[in-house]
Amino acid sequence: MHYFQYKNNELFCEDISVADIAKDVKTPFYLYSHRTLKQHFKAFNDSFDGINHLTCFSMKSNSNMAVLRLFAEEGGGVDIVSGGELYRAIRAGVDPKKIVYSGVGKTVEEMEYAIDSDILMFNSESCQELAALNEVAKRLDKKARVSIRVNPDVDPQTHPYISTGLKENKFGIDIKKSLEEYKAAADMKNLVVTGVSCHIGSQLTKISPFVDSLKKVMDLINKLRDAGIVISYLDMGGGLGITYNEEKPPLPAEYAAALKKEISGSDLTLILEPGRVIVGNACILVAKVLYTKTTGDKNFIIVDAAMNDLARPSLYGSFHGVQPVRSGDRNKIKADIVGPICESGDFLAKDREIESLGQDDLIAVMSAGAYGFTMSSNYNSRPRVAEVMAKGNQYQVIRKRETWEDLARGEETLKI
Ligand SMILES: Cc1ncc(COP(=O)(O)O)c(C=O)c1O
Repeated sequence: MHYFQYKNNELFCEDISVADIAKDVKTPFYLYSHRTLKQHFKAFNDSFDGINHLTCFSMKSNSNMAVLRLFAEEGGGVDIVSGGELYRAIRAGVDPKKIVYSGVGKTVEEMEYAIDSDILMFNSESCQELAALNEVAKRLDKKARVSIRVNPDVDPQTHPYISTGLKENKFGIDIKKSLEEYKAAADMKNLVVTGVSCHIGSQLTKISPFVDSLKKVMDLINKLRDAGIVISYLDMGGGLGITYNEEKPPLPAEYAAALKKEISGSDLTLILEPGRVIVGNACILVAKVLYTKTTGDKNFIIVDAAMNDLARPSLYGSFHGVQPVRSGDRNKIKADIVGPICESGDFLAKDREIESLGQDDLIAVMSAGAYGFTMSSNYNSRPRVAEVMAKGNQYQVIRKRETWEDLARGEETLKI
């Protein structure tokens, strides 16, 4: 469900014409629907009503501060993976007591910052990291709350680059060995063991891998209790998939019901770290056709957005719907929709059936809200694009387009 719909063949975001925004903002730009973001967050979060829970939006999927603020106002926290994300979250007004910190390579400076900020907990991913965290906390004369991210060795049945819960992946500590690690962590004077965490991958379209890993985690929590280690938080990570093309992922309510069934009766607080399912379909990337050409028997539509703006198609071969912003009675052709970057891997869509567009026509690349802007780069010295949020019949630029001056900021020619 989202609020990008055609009215008289013209694409609208909520109650405002996408073409009208493009006229003012210029292309390319990411365009978010406030109403969609809010509804998605609420639908997810409310599905867990009835049990103690905290929805920590995974801000690696989208770290724009206007987006974060919206979720914070709905009572959400965030899942972070760097000091930079912590900085953004705090600036956006997220309560540090609702921040969980994941990731395999936290630095000493990042740990210091997070301990000083008094975040809810660190999801620790190795025994060396636990020892380092204990040392940092000791130096600061504080205690750090931790969970151990366990790797349950469950196949999430997703793209290998976004699969994290198999034993060959770099994430977490083998669940079978984690009891020993917990005992070691419990003995560290400046750590307070409070949770167990687990995240098996992204863009999952079935419930069973979540349930299989949750069963393993519940088993571990019982063993920990027997060993005198009491767990308050169970962090099940993110991973629920969305429809990009023909996928049929479970609804948040179905996902929530399955998890609730497994933990009902316990006094655990369930933490969820959804990213994609909240923001993925709440945003489009708007671009303009620069040129079209036919070489051999292939048609190319060359637009002003490229793989540096939206990396997913090039990186994972991912599908994103591409729609004309003004749909007409043009005939349909099959074309590659490509950007200006000097790489054959620079494409937004391949062999796609689309209306035969011409110069200056606008396109909307759908489902671009998750791992879209956050994965964008300055490759080919292309300024990063603007981000815009529409609300009702109004819109606001929530991140300015970078300038050429921005590209050179901080650089110096050699003076030695
Ligand atoms: C630890 C952790 N939590 C949450 C997420 C968010 O996943 P998704 O966007 O699929 O919900 C990720 C993404 O890979 C992650 O690594």
